[in-house]
Amino acid sequence: NHYAIIMAGGIGSRFWPISRTSYPKQFIDILGTGKTLIQNTYERFLKICPKENIYVVTNENYTSLVKEQLPDMQDQQILTEPVMRNTAPCVAYGCFKIESLNPDASIVVAPSDHLILDENAFITAIEKALKTAEEQHCLITLGIKPSRPDTGYGYIQYTDNVINGEFHKVKTFTEKPTLDIAKTFIQSGDFLWNAGIFVWSAGAIVDAFNNYLPEMHEIFAEARSVYNSDEEKEFVHRIYQRCINISIDYGIMEKASNVYVLPSEFGWSDLGTWASIYQLADKDYVGNAVIPSEKVIMYDSSNCMVNVPSDKLVILQGLHDYIVVESNNSLLICPRDQEQNIKQVVADVKSKF
Ligand code: GDD
Ligand code: MG
Repeated sequence: NHYAIIMAGGIGSRFWPISRTSYPKQFIDILGTGKTLIQNTYERFLKICPKENIYVVTNENYTSLVKEQLPDMQDQQILTEPVMRNTAPCVAYGCFKIESLNPDASIVVAPSDHLILDENAFITAIEKALKTAEEQHCLITLGIKPSRPDTGYGYIQYTDNVINGEFHKVKTFTEKPTLDIAKTFIQSGDFLWNAGIFVWSAGAIVDAFNNYLPEMHEIFAEARSVYNSDEEKEFVHRIYQRCINISIDYGIMEKASNVYVLPSEFGWSDLGTWASIYQLADKDYVGNAVIPSEKVIMYDSSNCMVNVPSDKLVILQGLHDYIVVESNNSLLICPRDQEQNIKQVVADVKSKF
């Protein structure tokens, strides 16, 4: 009865030019490990549920990338969206489909683009959560001890009310707070970051859609008769147009009253910034991280993050604390401490070309 849904329809714009609309981060071997992020995610879930119970939800533009990178997946397991509507419709599509096939299912929903270093700890946590989801009508999320007031995360305030030993009742869930609010959360100490990895029974999440996003509930319930039939794709593509654009965090997690958090530690990083990649990458003795490294030559340069095509000769002279990234005929050179501006730069670039 255990199922997994991998969300793989985002565009990862902070990693331009490596990640771009036509080839987002989840399909890239961003750490130089030999496997792409979605391949690593899929392989983790193979250890948790049977392979026929793993689904990917992605934009139709990425279907061929998914098939190419996950050749074991059947067409019925790759759910395609005609438009980007953020994660709430993505979760609804996957969960309503699974619910119509198996009403007793318990489901883990996870991003396709995260790093998990301690795989055993991850598997243990997910299995515990799936078991709890089977027994309790609740929504579970995994929580990570925060290390800085990052405004890109959801923040979970938890209580001492505990079920199954370790699952804390959530008091408040705040998606992407302002910096001032994030700072007060960090100071108060009883907050965790939302890892964006959710676990629930099919019944609990369908009920949550009914309570908090009733129009979306209606849309995906309407499709119940077509899931797994030849009509599914066309039918779902038609009804998708009616979905509002909202994330599962804003749409449900912030509002629901039956949310529990499992505080977790499994070497998690959402690889959200070049800084996070830099932190994890192998570095030489002066702090340069170079992926891949064959033809990059550095003179008097330190603490740089370099990611360029492997056949390119690149020479850095006297460069410190910079990001140098080339891909798809685009080159980015940016001081490491200004990388948060890349998202805006990409928006500008897009409108110009
Ligand atoms: N299928 C599909 N369709 N997938 C999508 C879509 C969509 O329209 N939009 C995003 N995704 C996928 C992304 O590819 C990613 O794997 C996952 O859903 C999460 O989306 P992000 O856009 O990366 O969310 P976020 O990072 O801003 O915030 C979420 O993750 C944080 C942790 O990394 C939230 O859950 C936060 O609360 C959380 O802290
Ligand atoms: Mg993310």
